[in-house]
Amino acid sequence: MLQLNIINGPNLNLLGTREPEIYGMQSFDDYIGLLKTRFPSVDLLYYQSNIEGELINYLHSCIGKVQGIILNAGAYTHTSIALADAVSAIGIPVVEVHISNVLAREDYRKTSFIASKCIGSVSGLGLDGYALAVQYFIDSDSVAHPA
Ligand code: DQA
Repeated sequence: MLQLNIINGPNLNLLGTREPEIYGMQSFDDYIGLLKTRFPSVDLLYYQSNIEGELINYLHSCIGKVQGIILNAGAYTHTSIALADAVSAIGIPVVEVHISNVLAREDYRKTSFIASKCIGSVSGLGLDGYALAVQYFIDSDSVAHPA
């Protein structure tokens, strides 16, 4: 079974109540339930932390355990070389997701230290970005392991 890990960074635990005009009204707990129903063939794990070092430790713990990671590093996207180094170090394909369109917001959100270490990025498509990333991994897995 395809195992994927969704990892959310700081302040994303507040989805549903945090700036709903930007991030929407849905909590991630509700959304992950929908994702699991939509993708029954995938073992979807979820981790969230507000702490940079915990996110790095968690990325390290994924080595040998999952085939892909969907990472929304929140504001650490724009600040953390350490997190970007962790993405490079673990050797697991990572897709970067942002709920909002970071390129249409403040200038400091236009830099991602993580993007160049990832397979690709989805930004501005709301929570659907996570589903699109899951679908990407399903499609690439079926190319790698045809039935
Ligand atoms: C975010 C965009 C970041 O700039 C911001 O700091 C977040 C959320 C997004 O999903 O749109 O916390 O990653």
